Amino acid sequence: MEFRDLLMKRRSYRSFTGGPMTKSQLDYILTAATRAPNACNMQSWHFTVLCGTDAVGKLYPDVYRGEWIRNSAVVIVVSIDREGVETRFGDRGRDLFAIQDTACAMNNILLAAADMGFGGCFIGAFDEDACRKMLNLSERYRPVALAAIGTVEAEVPLRDRKPMEEVIDIIGELPDDGPAEPKKEEKKPFELRGAYLPDAVFDDLYLGNAVFNNICLTNAKFTDITFAGSSFGGLCMNDTKFGCVDMKNAAFDNPDLTGTTFRNCTLKDVKIDNCDIDGLTIDGVNVKDLLKND
Ligand SMILES: Cc1cc2nc3c(=O)[nH]c(=O)nc-3n(C[C@H](O)[C@H](O)[C@H](O)COP(=O)(O)O)c2cc1C
Repeated sequence: MEFRDLLMKRRSYRSFTGGPMTKSQLDYILTAATRAPNACNMQSWHFTVLCGTDAVGKLYPDVYRGEWIRNSAVVIVVSIDREGVETRFGDRGRDLFAIQDTACAMNNILLAAADMGFGGCFIGAFDEDACRKMLNLSERYRPVALAAIGTVEAEVPLRDRKPMEEVIDIIGELPDDGPAEPKKEEKKPFELRGAYLPDAVFDDLYLGNAVFNNICLTNAKFTDITFAGSSFGGLCMNDTKFGCVDMKNAAFDNPDLTGTTFRNCTLKDVKIDNCDIDGLTIDGVNVKDLLKND
């Protein structure tokens, strides 16, 4: 997902179905948490993860009074880790840097959860002592936030923000270059030349403007692929199968398509020049017969 879409997708959700999260999804979210910026890379944070309804249910009502939390797939208890940061930076380390570290981690957690298709909520109003007791946390740690994450039960609207002018002062000037667009990474189109790939499987790929040249793809399978603008030269595609493939503006030069099938594909503006189309049928109609009738 584009980062700007993710920013608009994330919002606070407080109603979950009780559906689960997988280990790899949790791993993605925790990796995001630990990639957050933090003071002097001391990473003064600690994450305790409650997984599944039994573990999560223990938070209600003593730690947090919102009953909706019981349907979370996971709750990540984010604590500051005083050790290190306090020794190095004193009160400012403990009372500011560690809080800032964990806040940065929380934001990454909530964005990563949204990126995985989950909803989440930052919870600050919980009973710290009850939480410490329940998790048996030592004095070294101070729980400062809960991230409740789950499968969203009902969509909620994006919440308004104060007008930008009210919260932003800009000092100095920048050149005016129109509305901000993220820099698009220049991607070189995919190229494959001179390969022997019978029975190959290509699935769920973006291969726009790709170049395939001199390749044996006998009995290969292509599904859910964008080939818009691609060129196919000197290919052997006997019995190759294309399903849900977008071939808009693709060009075939000298291909052997004997037995090739295209199902649910877009072949708009495809050019087929100088080809032997004996036996080629479209939706059961023989194309050569059709051309003869014209
Ligand atoms: C520091 C902090 C504490 C929060 N505490 C709670 C909380 O205890 N309970 C809750 O339901 N939401 C809590 N939230 C979520 C906010 O209510 C929410 O982010 C805010 O209303 C903006 O809505 P949005 O996240 O959908 O944009 C907290 C958020 C932050 C950053």
